[in-house]
Amino acid sequence: MKEKLDQLFNSAIEQLKKVDSISKFEELRVRYLGKKSELSNILKNMKNLSNEEKISTGKIINEIKKNIELKFSETFESIKNFEIERKLKEEIIDITLPGKKIAIGHKNPIQIVLDEIKEIFLNMGFVIEEGPDIDTEYYNFEALNILKDHPARSEQDTFYIDDDYVLRTHTSTIQIRTMENKKPPIKIIAPGRVYRSDELDATHSPIFCQMEGLVVDKDIRMSHLKSTLNKFIKSMFGSEIKTKFRAHHFPFTEPSAEMDVSCFACKGSGCSVCKNSGYIEILGCGMVHPDVLRRCDVDPEEYSGFAFGFGIDRMVMLKYGIEDIRLLYESDLKFLSQF
Ligand code: DAH
Repeated sequence: MKEKLDQLFNSAIEQLKKVDSISKFEELRVRYLGKKSELSNILKNMKNLSNEEKISTGKIINEIKKNIELKFSETFESIKNFEIERKLKEEIIDITLPGKKIAIGHKNPIQIVLDEIKEIFLNMGFVIEEGPDIDTEYYNFEALNILKDHPARSEQDTFYIDDDYVLRTHTSTIQIRTMENKKPPIKIIAPGRVYRSDELDATHSPIFCQMEGLVVDKDIRMSHLKSTLNKFIKSMFGSEIKTKFRAHHFPFTEPSAEMDVSCFACKGSGCSVCKNSGYIEILGCGMVHPDVLRRCDVDPEEYSGFAFGFGIDRMVMLKYGIEDIRLLYESDLKFLSQF
C-alpha cells in the first residue's frame, strides 16, 4: 500500500513539473485529487480493512494526500504568476497610440422635430400613447366611421396583411384604443409610423410619420381645439405665424376642419411653396364624432372631445425647407448632419 501511494505521489510530482497552463493544471488536479481519482478510490476501499489496518493505513493515506495537496497549491501559485507574466508579455498595449474613433450617427430631423413637438404638448399637460403598426380593419376604419365602401379602404391606398389586418394608414387608431382603455378626462398625443401604398416620390412615401392628438372631457368645445393648436403652431414656428381654420370633412369628426398656416417662405404674400395662396395646409382636426365616442363607451351626452392629426414629415420639411421626403429616410449622414 505504502509503495503504491509513494508511486502515486511521485507521478503527481512528475506531472506537475510539466504543467505550463492553468487548464493543464486543472486537468491534473481532477486526475489526482478529484472524486474519481485513484486516491479517492483507495479511500473508498478502506471500509474492507480491519480496524487496526484502517488506523495505520489511514495515517499514511492522509499524509500522502496532504503532501499532494501542498504540491498542487505551490504549483498553482507559480503557474498563476507564470500566466500573468505571459499575458503581460503577449498583450502589449501601447497607450500612446491614438484611440479608434467610433463614428457617432446623427439624430434624424424627424426625431429632432418630434422631440420638439412632444415637449410642447407635454408642457400643455398631454401624455403620450402608443398603438400597434399592424392593426385590425376595425381600429383603422370601422371604429372611425370609415365605412366599407370608403375609397380609403381600397387596396391602392392600404397595405392589407390579410382580410382583417392592415398596416395602419393613420394614427387615428390610437384615439379608439385610448378611449377603450381609459375613462375621460383624456388628453393624449400619439406619434407613430403609418403606411400607405403610395409610390415613392419627392412628396410621397409608403412609410411616413404622423401624430395624433385627442382631448375628451366634459364641456370640451371648438375653442379649446383652436387655442390648443394655435399655441402649438406658434411655439413650433414662431409667434408671427398666422393660422386659419377651413371647414373640411373627416368621417370621425363633426364638425371637421383643416388648419392652414401662413407660408414660411413668402410670409403670406404668395409664392411657389404656397402655390400663391399665402397659406399652407398643415393638419386635420375636428370635434370627435358622437358615434365614435359611443362606440368606445363614452357617453356623448356627458362628454365631448376634439382630435387632430398631422404628418410629422411634413412639419419637418416645412420647418427646414426640405423639398424631398426621400431624404428623410435615406440615412445619409451628409444630409442628416446638417440638422
Ligand atoms: N387621420 C387623418 C389622416 O390621416 C388625419 C386626421 C384628421 C386626424 C382629423 C384627426 C382629425 O384626428 O381629427 O388624414
